[in-house]
Amino acid sequence: MNEGQGQLAGQRALVTGAASGIGQACALALAGAGAEVIAADLADCAATTARTGGPDGLRVDVADADSVDALYAAAGPLDIVVHCAGILLEGPTLDMDVAAFDRQVAVNLRGSFLVAQGALRGMAPRGAGNLVLTASELGVLGRADFAGYCATKAGVIGLTRALAREFAPDIRVNCVAPGPTDTPMLGADTMSAEWRAREADNPMQRIGTPAEIASAVLWLVSPGAGFMTGQTLCPSGGAVML
Ligand SMILES: NC(=O)c1ccc[n+]([C@@H]2O[C@H](COP(=O)([O-])OP(=O)(O)OC[C@H]3O[C@@H](n4cnc5c(N)ncnc54)[C@H](O)[C@@H]3O)[C@@H](O)[C@H]2O)c1
Repeated sequence: MNEGQGQLAGQRALVTGAASGIGQACALALAGAGAEVIAADLADCAATTARTGGPDGLRVDVADADSVDALYAAAGPLDIVVHCAGILLEGPTLDMDVAAFDRQVAVNLRGSFLVAQGALRGMAPRGAGNLVLTASELGVLGRADFAGYCATKAGVIGLTRALAREFAPDIRVNCVAPGPTDTPMLGADTMSAEWRAREADNPMQRIGTPAEIASAVLWLVSPGAGFMTGQTLCPSGGAVML
């Protein structure tokens, strides 16, 4: 039996970053729990929608306000929005091109604001909804050579708290702050071999799976998490203990 089978029946969910990794796993988990899932990404979501059975995926650049507006216009009414799209650019601060810093701010932080704003504009008049943003354990812990990424992910945690207070009690806003997870983001073209070799340095001595992160997200949007808002949930093998 699927985890949470049937508990999201009748609900419509949007998942960004759904073409890959954690976003794809979230789309599968929500669909497995009975939601109709609209998958959205800069990339093609066909591989995801083939498995969720949901409608055709939508293209969006979450850093672009017009593109996010068009996404919500196409998606229609939503009960759940899970925002996973994000990027990571490693580099020592002294050499970091400010364009790389700005790009992470645009996708990770501005993108989270735009996706959240669009979700809340739809949910607020209906007086109900569930929003989950994606931060990172690095937004809590910090890490050398990841200043832009850490700053944007700490910003997502602050954004979550502000929105949770503004939209309570009707709409719950939480974020997931994963530890290292086995997705293309940890690949050789995004992270140095040195850091990849150290990723399993947590109490559980392993990296996580996308399904394990999706499981936390599924719980956050489920009725069982009905008293949770403004929270940062850290599936990180114990690297972060709040
Ligand atoms: N993998 C990890 O170890 C890890 C750990 C902590 C947090 N995260 C966060 O989880 C989220 C998902 O990451 P992942 O590991 O699945 O990575 P991933 O690279 O597998 O997936 C990220 C997805 O975001 C999409 N995307 C990137 N820029 C976009 C844009 N401007 N507009 C729309 N879509 C865009 C990509 O096309 C891709 O499909 C990210 O926010 C990431 O920062 C990942």
